[in-house]
Amino acid sequence: MRLVLGIESSCDETAAALVTDGRRIVAQRIASQDDAHRPYGGVVPEIAARAHAERLAPLIAATLADAGVTLADVDAVAATAGPGLIGGVMVGLVTAKALAMAGDKPLLAINHLEGHALSPRLADPGLGFPYLLLLASGGHCQLLLVAGVGQYRRLATTIDDALGEAFDKTAKVLGLGFPGGPAVERIALTGDPARVPLPRPLLGSAEPHFSFAGLKSAVLRAKHAGIYADADIAAAFQQAAIDCVVDRTARALNEAGVVSALVAAGGVAANAAVRAALEALAARHGLPFVAPPLALCTDNAAMIAWAGIERMELSGWAASDPLDFAARPRWPLDPEAAPARGAGVKA
Ligand code: KG4
Ligand code: ZN
Repeated sequence: MRLVLGIESSCDETAAALVTDGRRIVAQRIASQDDAHRPYGGVVPEIAARAHAERLAPLIAATLADAGVTLADVDAVAATAGPGLIGGVMVGLVTAKALAMAGDKPLLAINHLEGHALSPRLADPGLGFPYLLLLASGGHCQLLLVAGVGQYRRLATTIDDALGEAFDKTAKVLGLGFPGGPAVERIALTGDPARVPLPRPLLGSAEPHFSFAGLKSAVLRAKHAGIYADADIAAAFQQAAIDCVVDRTARALNEAGVVSALVAAGGVAANAAVRAALEALAARHGLPFVAPPLALCTDNAAMIAWAGIERMELSGWAASDPLDFAARPRWPLDPEAAPARGAGVKA
């Protein structure tokens, strides 16, 4: 049995995990920084970096203690090396380098998006390649054809906002606090989506991409109109977003060719209504729908350890990244993908 230590610090979760090549999460700890960022209504990079620097080393020590192992028992150290908020990424990556050097272990510099992309395989050993992946988080909204470990073809991305960002902005407009996604989902349960007319950007469009900026502005206008209940606005927003996601994903399924499954990952994949709509879409295409358990959808270190294990297995446990590997604020999974139109495109 092989054991990999995973480290995640690219946004506002400080996380460490120990995962075996037998897909067992032996121990994992996540320290959320929600309280530190709540007064600002969003993640403040400088505060995040400082919090990671304070918390990461003790968190790793506690994770090792939880598992009853020491660094000597670990076969490799995997850390997010990008994309993300650069200060936080550097804290995690430098910590991993120090541990790898001190323990004479291989270092694995992991793409955070690859962690999300492969996380469904950690939970579901039956999920084989190729699969169509909707990766929807706070910073990304992409459809990827996952042909194998390290083999990603981007079929669509957002031309403006990420889907999780739209959830967070909606929460802010409605005064629901931070983080926004779960709060919008909760209040939407009691609302009627039919009461608030909202647009569905790029629905039915011949181009493959997503757009959520127009929907976000329409939510703001609906709130300012002062005639709709917050729960109805939340429900209408979520339904409009889901209609867009289903439409764009259906288009990608038609383009992707033969796939083994429709898969969702990233923070927004924790949303039950999004999951249900994608499951129904998959069924219409005669495909299984796979999404990791909720705790593996949002940022965590188990998915980083797992991505390291996948890379290790591909290389016969010989992979290793150099100790001067630089943290990357941007790191697209598919470097060949043409830029989507529009400004403010996320990597
Ligand atoms: O993957 P993640 O934890 O971090 C990034 O890599 O961005 O995703 C966080 C995003 C946030 O925008 C959050 O509001 C959203 O995922 N999110 C949700 C839900 N849980 C988290 N969005 C909708 N419904 C949820 N239940
Ligand atoms: Zn993430």
